Parts: sequence; structure tokens; C-alpha cells
Amino acid sequence: MPDAFKELNRMNCCVTGLQWGDEGKGKVVDILAEKADIVVRYGGGANAGHTVIIGDEKFALHIMPSGAVREKTACVIANGVVVDPGTLLEEITQLAQRGIDVSRRLFISENAHIVLDYHKLEDQLRESALGKNKIGTTARGIGPCYADKIGRSFALRMADLRNLTALKEKLVKIVDYKNKLFSALYGAESIDADAIFNKCKVYSAKLGPFICNTTQYLHEAMDAGKNILFEGAQGALLDLDHGTFPFVTSSNASTLGLGPGCGVPTKCVDRFIGVVKAYATRVGSGPFPTEQDNEIGNLIREKGHEYGTTTGRPRRCGWFDAVSVGYTVRLGGINEIAMMHLDTLAGMKEVKICKAYHIEGRQTTFFPGTAEDLEKAECVYETLPGWSEDLSAATRYEDLPANTRNYIAAVEKFVGCPITIVGVGPQRSQAIFRKIM
Ligand code: IMP
Repeated sequence: MPDAFKELNRMNCCVTGLQWGDEGKGKVVDILAEKADIVVRYGGGANAGHTVIIGDEKFALHIMPSGAVREKTACVIANGVVVDPGTLLEEITQLAQRGIDVSRRLFISENAHIVLDYHKLEDQLRESALGKNKIGTTARGIGPCYADKIGRSFALRMADLRNLTALKEKLVKIVDYKNKLFSALYGAESIDADAIFNKCKVYSAKLGPFICNTTQYLHEAMDAGKNILFEGAQGALLDLDHGTFPFVTSSNASTLGLGPGCGVPTKCVDRFIGVVKAYATRVGSGPFPTEQDNEIGNLIREKGHEYGTTTGRPRRCGWFDAVSVGYTVRLGGINEIAMMHLDTLAGMKEVKICKAYHIEGRQTTFFPGTAEDLEKAECVYETLPGWSEDLSAATRYEDLPANTRNYIAAVEKFVGCPITIVGVGPQRSQAIFRKIM
């Protein structure tokens, strides 16, 4: 057992992304889940794509917590998640086909809101209507479902699947409202309430046994001394309130979403681990100061297989941005960082870290408050020598080439946070745990 695991005993941990998502959280959660009794998803929905690779097997999970692949770990989908029941059922079936049974260890909050077909349609219609100003969403209905939650009058929660008669009445009213809206705004064809209701009957029968009060479940588990791992979705720069609005997702994707997203106060979390890539990527629209829309970006994309797990879209790639990560470290109260994909940078003659921005003649190391200001940022880079060695077989920090260690030290200095886990390949075993004195 690596040393870092020992410290995890009897600890509640939270793992979140510190960039624009896709940092490699799935792998970090999977590794840490070995010592966790429960893994909790507290935000986002099927827009997430968490990849876990074990041996020859690759699991791409969108809504199920990454802990699902560990047979003894309970999985909670808490109230802050917007649940696409169809995708969830597909994932339950896919896991079962691979011999992984979640039937007695999956708990879905009765207060989690449900994503239905009209949310996905609204997402697509709105994005198409925006044209070049689109957000570049995953088209999974996330924004429209959260909007209905905030609006309250047309929202449906998992608890509604328990009473099909009442659900049908609500659904007829909601679909009527949506049809009028979509027809008036987009000239869209009507959607059929009966077809959606028929799907809901299946969801009710199949998911009903998992629906419960997850807040009570989590508090009783904490009373019983269980270890809980909270798994963030997306990344802090996509946080609705603190990210690069409007090019963000519709939930608090930083650690700040944890309390409202599952009913557990953040003071119950002992360890906040932020996950970054050794470089930066972004999918969808929005400012990205270190973007390399050139050969360097292409190299990173191909070597790092930077294509979306959820949508297959090529990701925009660039250098590591210590200004934005320094900000998300502060925002999330991050104690330590897991840096993934370090192996992808091998072979570069030199590597760069953005250590400050120039905005309208002024130099700053604090991340700007608006996307408009971020658009104006010019990067001030620290350039370091690269490394050519293949890192994939390294098991100890000391095995890493000196230039790689220098790179890690420079990132730590600029973001003000220690890097305690280093990923050197996609496998569960390809992670180095480092003890910081
Ligand atoms: P939405 O969450 O589908 O509404 O998309 C809003 C923005 O967040 C878009 O730029 C998406 O590409 C981005 N996004 C949403 N989920 C993820 C994710 O899991 N990884 C990376 N980007 C994401």
C-alpha cells in the first residue's frame, strides 16, 4: 500500500477538477475509492465523462460515480445531480454485462432532478439558434434541467417517479408548456407527453428501488465512521458562479457545490484534492489564454487522446495555466493536487507554464472576474527544458527525470499548492504517490 493511502484511512476526501473538466478525475477517484466506503456524485449530470481503465477494460461513466467499478463501494447520486434516467439505466446494464452488480449499493436522491427528452431538445434548439455565439454544450439537457429546477414550476424530481398518476398529470402540463415555447421560439415540432410518460414508467420500475433520502444516508454513514469520497464533475473553471461565465456549465462544478449538492457541510471533508492535467484543455466555446491552436496543440491532442468522452469532440489544447489553477486552488480550499497526463508532455523540447497575465498594460497573477477580461489576457510564460524519457514505467517520484521534477516544482510554486499524486499513464497502477515533508 503506498504511503499516501495510509493517510486516507478514516478521511473524507473530495476530488474536483481545477481546469475546464476532463482532468482525469475518474482515475484519481478510482484509486482513492479503494479506501472509501462510499463514493458520492454531487453535481452535473450525463455531461460528465469519467474514464476508468483497469487492465484491458475501459469504463466510460457519465452519471454513475466512478467508484461503481469497485464492488464493495456504495455509490450515491446526490440531490445536486441532474439524472438522465435512460443513461443511468444503460450504465447499470453495461456494468452488469461486465459482471459488476450495483443493485444493493446504489442510492439515488429523491430530490435529484430528472433530465427528460424535452430538456435535451431544448438544449439543442437553443444552441442552434445561438449560431456562432453558442456555448458549445454537450447537448445533454443539463442547462434546461437546472433552469427548470431553479424555476420550480415545471420541474420533476426522482421522487416523482414514485407516484405515476401524479407524475402523468404534471408531465401533461409541462409538455404542453414546452410545446408552446418550442413552437413559438424555434418553430419546433410537438413532443408527445405519452411517449415520455411511457419511458418514465420504465424508469420508475427499474430505478424505484434505488431512490431514497441520500442526505440521511450520508449523515448516518458519517455517524458510523464510514469514509466518504466526494467526486466532482467538470472543472472549477466551468463553475456557474465562479467560472468563465457564460461559457460554463449550469452547476457549481468547484468544491463549492458540495454542500448544496449533497447536504454534507464542507467542514466534514478532511482533504480536498484538485486534479489537473500537466497541460490545459477545453471543449466548447469560451476564453482559453494558453490555447495552442498550432502544431503544439495538435501534438498534445494526438498524444493525449484529447477527444471528448461524452461527445467525441476534439478538445482545444494548450500550455498549463498557473494563473487559473492558482485561482481554483484558492476557490476550492484545495490541500493538494493530482497532476495527470505528465507522460503526454514527454518529447517536447521545451515546456511552458503561464505564470501571469498582461491585461490592458497591467500584469496580474489573479484570475480576472469576467470572461470578457480573460479574453484580453496575454500570457507571461516561464519556459523550462522538456524531457524525452518515457515516464510510463515510473513508480517512484525519484524515478522521474530531473527536468520533469523541475516542471512539477515550478507548477507547485506558481499555484501555491503541493502536487502529491502524479499520473504517468492511463492505468490504475500508473500513478506515483508522493509524500510531502
Ligand atoms: P453543458 O454542461 O453540457 O451545458 O456544457 C457547458 C460547457 O461545459 C460546454 O463548454 C461543455 O463543453 C462543458 N462541459 C460540460 N461537461 C463537461 C465535462 O465533463 N468535461 C469538459 N467540459 C464539459
